[in-house]
Amino acid sequence: MRKIMQVFRNYLEAEREGGVFEFLFSSKGKAAGLSLLKNKVMGCRKCQLAKSRNNLVFGEGNMKARLMFVGEAPGREEDRLGRPFVGEAGTLLTKIIEAMGMKREDVYICNILKCRPPQNRNPMPEEISECIGHLYAQIECVKPKVICGLGKFASQTLLNTTTSITKLRGNWHRFKDIDLMPTYHPAYLLRNPRDKKLVWQDMKKIMEKL
Ligand code: URA
Repeated sequence: MRKIMQVFRNYLEAEREGGVFEFLFSSKGKAAGLSLLKNKVMGCRKCQLAKSRNNLVFGEGNMKARLMFVGEAPGREEDRLGRPFVGEAGTLLTKIIEAMGMKREDVYICNILKCRPPQNRNPMPEEISECIGHLYAQIECVKPKVICGLGKFASQTLLNTTTSITKLRGNWHRFKDIDLMPTYHPAYLLRNPRDKKLVWQDMKKIMEKL
């Protein structure tokens, strides 16, 4: 046993000298962590949505992003392309990001659910409970300064509340130790363009915080 412990100690010493600890906390380490997570999640078959999906939509963007947007679930275009927010609502989200003086590549974009619910129906509780761990792990890897919850579903799920999005939006909340700003979903804005000004107020609060 003593011999095994000695070998193990020597191994840790050698790894430390080789910089493995620095590596784990460096951006290369972060990228490796996120890509390991992605490889693991891409094969997920934990809920019924795995059977109907064309592509799992893991999320994309800057792994060092200070701002992470979290939506509800992939829609038709996202399921077809395997990328988040690439349909009509995605085009509007991209415009919002650009109006904030950033590019899509500067932020990180993902969803509560990684697979499309058939006919875009609401996510079911068991789908959320199987999937939410993937998002928590993504947040842990990216460590954003601010999370923007897009719409009622993402915001209520992250904050574990049933308070309406109308009450939640525009106010700062906390997800663990991260500031979270709920706002209206871009798909809602496409139907209710008059509320775009409210979302812009929320984005200005995010820009100030960043
Ligand atoms: N709506 C979402 O909530 N997420 C997407 O990725 C696309 C549309």
